[in-house]
Amino acid sequence: MASDPSQHSTDDVAGRVHDHSPGPASDRVFGGVDDVLAVLRRWGSVFYDDRVTQLDHALQCATLARESGAGDELVVAALLHDIGHLLELERNEGRIGDLGVDRDHESIAARALAPLFPPEVVAPVALHVAAKRYLCAVEPEYHATLSEGSVRSLVTQGGPMTPDEIERFERHPAHAAAADLRRWDDAGKVEHLQVAGLDSFAATVRAVARP
Ligand SMILES: [Fe+2]
Ligand SMILES: [Fe+2]
Repeated sequence: MASDPSQHSTDDVAGRVHDHSPGPASDRVFGGVDDVLAVLRRWGSVFYDDRVTQLDHALQCATLARESGAGDELVVAALLHDIGHLLELERNEGRIGDLGVDRDHESIAARALAPLFPPEVVAPVALHVAAKRYLCAVEPEYHATLSEGSVRSLVTQGGPMTPDEIERFERHPAHAAAADLRRWDDAGKVEHLQVAGLDSFAATVRAVARP
């Protein structure tokens, strides 16, 4: 890729103040790719919503990315974009708590993934919530496509972007990738959909990880 998404602060682009207070989840750093895959396997059976599990959602998103011809980094970003929720589950020892409430899961994921993956993976993950706020602002018809849960969380995530936030978001080199990821995120919630398993993505995850 020609541009380096790491040159831009994803927090600034998100256009809101994040709580960066240290805690067990935000301090979690993956030991390696095997650890990432193990977290997906261990906590993926927890339900994402009332139709699909966390792993179903991750695999459906990654499959949509792959079928769209996305590069390997973006396929991996799609697979891992909600791993912040799984780290929260791990921290809470499996208690679901209120997963519907946004706990900055995109930032938790980005911090945990950054030592292991390049910005082309990490930035779209970090921006996938901001991308929802962006698409809600620039595509009036997009809001109507959101699930009930996504509409609910939009409020706590700050609502549609303001014109200033839109401008900043569009300056980020990963903004288009983040918007693509967001569309797969919205579509990857189909009950009983059979897609390839985690094993079929493991080699790609390993290939894009930092050496
Ligand atoms: Fe998410
Ligand atoms: Fe998601």
